[in-house]
Amino acid sequence: MPKLLVAPSILTADFARLGEQIQEAEAAGVDWIHLDVMDGRFVPNLTFGPLVVEAVRRVTRLPLDVHLMIVEPERYLRDFAQAGADWITVHFEATPHAHRAVQQVKELGKRAGLAINPATPLESLLPLLPELDLALLMSVNPGFGGQRYIPGTTERIRRLAGLREHMNPACLVEVDGGIKPENVAEVYRAGADVVVVGSALFNNRPVAENMEKLLGRVYAVGPR
Ligand code: DX5
Ligand code: ZN
Repeated sequence: MPKLLVAPSILTADFARLGEQIQEAEAAGVDWIHLDVMDGRFVPNLTFGPLVVEAVRRVTRLPLDVHLMIVEPERYLRDFAQAGADWITVHFEATPHAHRAVQQVKELGKRAGLAINPATPLESLLPLLPELDLALLMSVNPGFGGQRYIPGTTERIRRLAGLREHMNPACLVEVDGGIKPENVAEVYRAGADVVVVGSALFNNRPVAENMEKLLGRVYAVGPR
């Protein structure tokens, strides 16, 4: 039964004690750290840049999964690579040159991801799918944590996981937004390899308790 990787999104962490929250998440057994970079143009929110990636790099050895919700991401790929990102994901909708951006990420020695928003056809990923290390399906409209999972995403996960099997079995399918104990099994069984989880991990109870609740629901249903 393939392991579901959990990537906590720091967007919903307490930024007044970010280092502690990351160490709490690491102690709780998360696999990656997901960093949501937002520029206030591609999405109606503004978060952080390479400086925060550098700071996070100093407090954990977990893979840093940087999600660029910014226009013209080519401008900053080197900065995020040098800041310590391991995975760098750009949005198909954010640049006319997604292929070149993916190539640049790989030339920088990093794992390359391509993300699509909920209304973007799945077919947009296909020309690059053979070259991707990661394909990210947004299961909320990007910009904010704490939103509801868009139910139609499950069929998109299933279709993408199937396409990946014969086009690029090494490419990971990541699902981002609205992941909760109530829907994580459905997302896993549809074929997701990585789930990004923000509010369901960092809100209300200690991360370890939330993590246990989340994973308890994944494997309870048996192999996919
Ligand atoms: C939204 C971000 C997501 C979000 C996940 O644009 O990409 O990573 O922070 O947070 P939750 O799990 O609360 O939806
Ligand atoms: Zn994200």
